[in-house]
Amino acid sequence: MSAISYLQYGGKLLAFLPLSESGTMLKLNDPSLLKTKNFIDGQWVPGSAGTIDVTNPANGEVVATTANGDAADAARAVEAAARAFKHWSRIPAKQRAVLLRNWFNLLLEHADDLGAIMTAEQGKPLAESIGEIGYGAGFIEYFAEESKRVMGDTIPTIANDRRLQTYKQPVGVVGCITPWNFPNAMIARKAGPALASGCTIVIKPATETPLSALCMCELADRAGIPKGVINVVVGDNSQEIGKVLTQHKKISKFTFTGSTAVGKILMKQCADGVKKISLELGGNAPFIVFDDADIDAAIADCMATKFRNCGQTCVCTNRIYVQSGIADEFTSKLKTAIEALKVGDGFADDVTIGPLVNMTAVGEMKALMKDAKSKGAEILVGGKTHELGHCFFEPTLVTGLTPDMRMASEEIFGPIAAMQVFETEDEAIERANDTEFGLAAYFATRDIGRVMRVAERLEYGIVCSNSGVFSTEVAPFGGWKQSGLGSEGGKEGIAEFFETKFHSMGGIES
Ligand code: SIN
Repeated sequence: MSAISYLQYGGKLLAFLPLSESGTMLKLNDPSLLKTKNFIDGQWVPGSAGTIDVTNPANGEVVATTANGDAADAARAVEAAARAFKHWSRIPAKQRAVLLRNWFNLLLEHADDLGAIMTAEQGKPLAESIGEIGYGAGFIEYFAEESKRVMGDTIPTIANDRRLQTYKQPVGVVGCITPWNFPNAMIARKAGPALASGCTIVIKPATETPLSALCMCELADRAGIPKGVINVVVGDNSQEIGKVLTQHKKISKFTFTGSTAVGKILMKQCADGVKKISLELGGNAPFIVFDDADIDAAIADCMATKFRNCGQTCVCTNRIYVQSGIADEFTSKLKTAIEALKVGDGFADDVTIGPLVNMTAVGEMKALMKDAKSKGAEILVGGKTHELGHCFFEPTLVTGLTPDMRMASEEIFGPIAAMQVFETEDEAIERANDTEFGLAAYFATRDIGRVMRVAERLEYGIVCSNSGVFSTEVAPFGGWKQSGLGSEGGKEGIAEFFETKFHSMGGIES
């Protein structure tokens, strides 16, 4: 057996105890946060389809064994959420906000443990995981506050005996499927506005990362959020559970973060019941660097957006376009920055890049590299699996990207930076917009006129000039084209969970 290993973080000591030759058990400051059963109607219940092993992508070891729920479990959760909706939707927003605030406080109080659980199941560096807990908690806090400011209208009347008003009412039970890349924040971004608006929710987290979802439920329960308001069903039969969450007659709204391909299937499933939907789907973000940019700042921004979460975000830079006058300097500085990244287990000191989520993702990186090489790309750094083995892949820099390469048109979702050179502003914008996706786009320039022109012409839901990190609870996050429908975050994010009712009142004056 290996020895106990310890990690000092934020003044606290986290210990990892060996469980067996083949597995490690997470030891937490508060071990009761490690939940493995489904959370339905305020109860921890086993899954009807047995169990699932959750493994650490850094070493393949089993972190925990969770419930494996099925369609019947999901249907039970929907029924519980429908019962809970009857009273939760009628509690004044101000009182719901108090409970959500309690939840926010508990999430922050336990950030170290929640972060450790996330790193163990997802692989991202511990500091990034703990950062995500703060990011996710921000949505709970923001929407708790925002729910008190959702207002209907009084509309100027069309006749003296009438009064016209609109009300905003919670849509009902929300079905929700969340991804493994942000196991906490993508739940918070949906559950925060859902609960704040008076809706109840059934969440199916990614099979790879259920533990983060379950410990969020434990804290919601401790915060006093009533039974049935938030439910989590873990299960590896995503298709069957997904059908319940998109088609059950008591589901009023469905929300999903994931790939465009899966989003299209789920959207079709929602069509029969005409469910309200919001979808946050794939991206293919361009990062354009103009000759007049501050090159060092552009490198820092490009690194932040490309390599965050090992390149596994929908808003990670996918295509880097560099104007010819600075191409050599930018390439050489980017190469140096990539070489300085430290790859390793997310629990190890100073690690900036963890493993990919699973071996399928590693296989996909290899296939993208093979395709690019066969079409003439040059590899300046990396390009293959990392010597650490398991799910590790080398941070990579590819130049000579051409439109026929898969990594130009498909979402890379890994640590490969792919570059090409351009000459004019028009050419850069045309190439950047030449995609079916429209989530996030980045550009670097010190010319204020160009900042305005380029921001207006990029066909994306989010544009970032001279910055590489933008995610925040206070602003809308949503895609154009095939990158999605609706927005999460900001005032737009809570609007998705309300129906507008028009009340036409007659008989006011006889
Ligand atoms: C995502 O990749 O879907 C979310 C990224 C973010 O919230 O910044």
